[in-house]
Amino acid sequence: MLNKNIFNWNDFVDLYDWEFDFISDDQKLDVEFYQSMVKEKGGTVLEIGCGTGRITEKLLPIAKSVTVVDSAPSFLERLRKRLKQYTNLEIVESNMLHLQLGKQFDTIILSYSTFQYFLTRDAQLDALKVLKEHLNDDGNILIDISPYIAIAESLDDFTPYYEHYHPALNADIAMLTSYQVDPESKIQYWVDKYIIKYRKPRDNQPAIEEFDHHLALKGVGLDEMHDLCRSVGLAVVNVFGSQNKEPINPDSNNYFFVIQKMNK
Ligand SMILES: C[S@@+](CC[C@H](N)C(=O)[O-])C[C@H]1O[C@@H](n2cnc3c(N)ncnc32)[C@H](O)[C@@H]1O
Repeated sequence: MLNKNIFNWNDFVDLYDWEFDFISDDQKLDVEFYQSMVKEKGGTVLEIGCGTGRITEKLLPIAKSVTVVDSAPSFLERLRKRLKQYTNLEIVESNMLHLQLGKQFDTIILSYSTFQYFLTRDAQLDALKVLKEHLNDDGNILIDISPYIAIAESLDDFTPYYEHYHPALNADIAMLTSYQVDPESKIQYWVDKYIIKYRKPRDNQPAIEEFDHHLALKGVGLDEMHDLCRSVGLAVVNVFGSQNKEPINPDSNNYFFVIQKMNK
């Protein structure tokens, strides 16, 4: 049996799209929000934390160009293969905190809680400064925050979450989740355990592999987001609670922030 730990997305590439497909029914709808905002604004798009291109794929046909940035080369490789027919796509491998493209965009997208990987106020401010540097004067930054991060009680013991068949790996995969919540820093630390049982192991392949995926995300409140933006010369001009641009309410699964340059 193999035991290992994964602390980043890069090593998770074989499971990411497969898992997203059946655990993220609500989150999938975010694409409609981004499509509508890009259609409204027209022009160029910078998508940061693009992953394997789930959203990119839907934006390329309607945007003038899409520049994607991700720090995980394995994810970008999948995206490259998936979207090779598009000539209006630029792929950049980088930690977004080091991004210096020297150009500005009409729409910048940071989807699916990616902003919540920044765990300190300094890192959050650095990230917003990078976004501002890459934004046209009348452009929109779109950030999706999950209001559910760091509000639950800790779940100390591994708790079964799903069991599902993975056709490409020909394996049955069980996932068990656990998390610790630090109310002071509002950081939720997950350890998700994956147990992969191959139906027909290849030569030298163990029949069962096991690894833990470690993730940490920070809760971000509405007032806090306004304050963070103000601190770097940005302004929150709208917050929507759904892909249909409804107002936020206590049941909203997503807060879609629309952010612009202050005093344009
Ligand atoms: C939860 S996945 C979202 C992927 C895709 N946007 C989607 O919604 O399916 C987060 C992505 O952000 C990337 N990411 C996280 N921190 C990053 C950073 N500092 N710079 C660039 N990419 C980052 C990860 O590699 C991963 O592909």
